[in-house]
Amino acid sequence: MIKPTYLHAVEILDSRGRPTVSAIMGTSDGSVATVSIPSGASTGKAEAKELRDNLQPYRGLGCRKAVENIRGPIAQAVVGREFSSQAELDSNLNELDGTADKSRLGANAILAASLVFARASAAHQGIPLYQYFARLVPNGAPALPRLSINLFSGGKHAFGQVAVQDVLVVPSSGWSVAASLAMIYEIYQTAAEMTGKRYRTRALTADEGGLAPPFRASIEMLEQAAESIEAAGFKLGHDVSLAMDVAASHFVREDGRYWIDGEQLSPEEMIDLLALWQERFPLVSIEDGLSEDDWDHWPILRARLGDGTLTLADDLTCTNPDRISRAIRVEAANALLLKVNQIGTLTEAKNALALARQAGWKVSVSARSGETEDHWLADLAIGWSGDFIKVGSITQSERLAKYNRLLMVEDTGDLRVCL
Ligand code: PGA
Ligand code: ZN
Repeated sequence: MIKPTYLHAVEILDSRGRPTVSAIMGTSDGSVATVSIPSGASTGKAEAKELRDNLQPYRGLGCRKAVENIRGPIAQAVVGREFSSQAELDSNLNELDGTADKSRLGANAILAASLVFARASAAHQGIPLYQYFARLVPNGAPALPRLSINLFSGGKHAFGQVAVQDVLVVPSSGWSVAASLAMIYEIYQTAAEMTGKRYRTRALTADEGGLAPPFRASIEMLEQAAESIEAAGFKLGHDVSLAMDVAASHFVREDGRYWIDGEQLSPEEMIDLLALWQERFPLVSIEDGLSEDDWDHWPILRARLGDGTLTLADDLTCTNPDRISRAIRVEAANALLLKVNQIGTLTEAKNALALARQAGWKVSVSARSGETEDHWLADLAIGWSGDFIKVGSITQSERLAKYNRLLMVEDTGDLRVCL
């Protein structure tokens, strides 16, 4: 049993300088926990709804109403009451909100309350946060995930220079977190130098720290990534592979055609293009290769990619158990991108994870493009034994906070000082 004695919230700023929500909870055993919440830009339509103020300042992006909802109705429902589990807390939050998409109190307010309760519970039990997350799932066994790290970015994270959102590098599963990061550092620096020379400019860095040189077409992201890996002294497809987040929902038009780098492709042509890329490059996964509404073509894409490359669903499934069930039924994908703020509570995200696991899917635990220096996501990836973690690039403290947390857990195995 855990009894919150107070719950407070503050509007803070994320890695884009936009407001987000931080929550602070005290409990009857004297412990205090804080948490802060991320926010996406390349969002899926089916995501739970963040509450934004729609007033100045911050061009409408303020989170003061969400903060007030934590300080007011959520605190009233939670403080002074004993809870036996995360599920009990989360179902109370959902009941209090009463909407399907969490739009009344705000998914940002609800997630902050759900997660701060998790951290307070871990402190109450005297266990690391990843251990607490592991105990939420049946047979939970903490494990370090494989890194998938942004190298090049386009799409919504880089002014749409090219259509594809991200090309990522994925060290082979045999590499430790420490060795993976050292390898990526070499590749990233090599890529920055090579693209600097080729495009005669210092590359812009995108929202998640990926390099965004003035590519003319998305294929150049893959070509340059492959070249950079080899030039950095690694064997492509052996030491390190590639992955992509196509984020196709963000360049599909109403008629269902994909506007990619000056061309208009039918869904069938888009699938052909992805299959061509799969043939040319060692791609571990292709995320959102088609749009979130293109349910008819996802199963065709999944069949076409076969078992060699994971068909990874992000905007399609939005960590939403109903959408994941549908995707499993029609065999639209075989891997889930898990973002807790897409659904809004830990318990619902856990249900999403369980569905994916039952279907034999792989799971990639993902940050958002708007992040904070909080590192709970690293604990989540460990506690829920994510096959992959996707945090962005290896620059910017909001990304490094998560990698550093993985490094510390990898080194010590158990981190009581860093709950
Ligand atoms: P977002 O993008 O956090 O901006 O939504 C991340 C992704 O599409 O995976
Ligand atoms: Zn995505």
